[in-house]
Amino acid sequence: MYRVIVANKAVLTPWEVSGKIDYDNLVEKFGTKPLNHGDLDRMRDHSGRFHFMLRRGVFYSHRDLDKILDHHDRGGKFSLYTGRGPSGPVHLGHLIPWIFTKHLQDTYGSKLLFQFTDDEKMLLKEDLDETITSHWVHENALDLMALGFDPDNTEFIVNMRHASKLFPIALKVAKKITGSTMRAVFGFNDQSNLGMMFFPSMQAAPCFLESERAGEPVPCLIPAGIDQDPYWRLTRDIARKLGYPKPAQIHGRMLPGLTGTAKMSSSQPETAIYMTDVPELVEKKIEYANVPEDRANCPLFQFHYFLLTESDEEVEWIRDACTSNRRSCLECKIELAEDVNRFLKAHRRRKKLIGKSVETMLE
Ligand code: TYM
Repeated sequence: MYRVIVANKAVLTPWEVSGKIDYDNLVEKFGTKPLNHGDLDRMRDHSGRFHFMLRRGVFYSHRDLDKILDHHDRGGKFSLYTGRGPSGPVHLGHLIPWIFTKHLQDTYGSKLLFQFTDDEKMLLKEDLDETITSHWVHENALDLMALGFDPDNTEFIVNMRHASKLFPIALKVAKKITGSTMRAVFGFNDQSNLGMMFFPSMQAAPCFLESERAGEPVPCLIPAGIDQDPYWRLTRDIARKLGYPKPAQIHGRMLPGLTGTAKMSSSQPETAIYMTDVPELVEKKIEYANVPEDRANCPLFQFHYFLLTESDEEVEWIRDACTSNRRSCLECKIELAEDVNRFLKAHRRRKKLIGKSVETMLE
């Protein structure tokens, strides 16, 4: 695997997040800006509510968000862009940027470009072929649409199926980037396969697609986990050279795994909760999660904080009950399993209602 050490042995690439991630340090290291009161006030005024992921700093850093908001205030349109590597079922961590993206689409009426990087996953994993990735594209697209995105304002780009939409832009991008930049940004080496060296140009291309189509600059805002940031550093570096606006980002923190790993990840399935997990499995995973003793940093609390419990009052009650020993770990675990199962059940119900309509969107 490709490795880029960010600090104190912590690793953060789009494919691996491990060690203790210092999010403030990443702001410095990656040259992003923390969201300040001004940014937060503006977003709250635009939407008429203060989204809990902004209130709590789940989304915490950005590049050029202020420019996007200025553009909006002048009456301009911008596109949203985010995506998924379709190699398996979606877990709760994946939903975090998507729930926030839905809030942005509702607020700004922006078109969402949603990319499925089946090419990336095939290049990375030995046992994947297009039949398998197509299955997950379909399943994952249902998970996305179940969050309530506007189907008339959402475009899926499945890289292998829709390569011709992206390839001309990806070529322009690739032409401006050298192998040594790729090594420095992604940790590629002499053993890295050729496809992976090219792939970042495919992930960069949707940043410019709406500008290309409109024949004039259309700014683009990317809401995503901070693990995807290497792509955007690279893309921003070459945007102007190609005559496109630099893509803006708003970065989310990573939901930890059940045992406190830096990021809930499919590479550790026993510490992840998937949208497909049946209630008994959810109960088991949570019951057997070996949580660290330090109650102030309990990963189980993060599930409420990041995702499940929007009310600040309730979330503080949960935190307090745990840290003051009013509630045992077992009680916490039972309640969390109930909350997760309620969340999954509602999600599955919405997924069923969408049914086949997602197929037309994927054509
Ligand atoms: P993928 O499938 O690894 O992740 C999809 C999105 O989920 C976020 N994410 C998480 N967020 C919070 N907590 C977690 N534990 C967690 N795990 C994953 C990721 O940051 C990401 O936003 N190559 C990309 C797909 C892609 C993409 C994009 C993502 C294509 N274009 C544009 C973001 C923006 C991938 O494999 O993502």
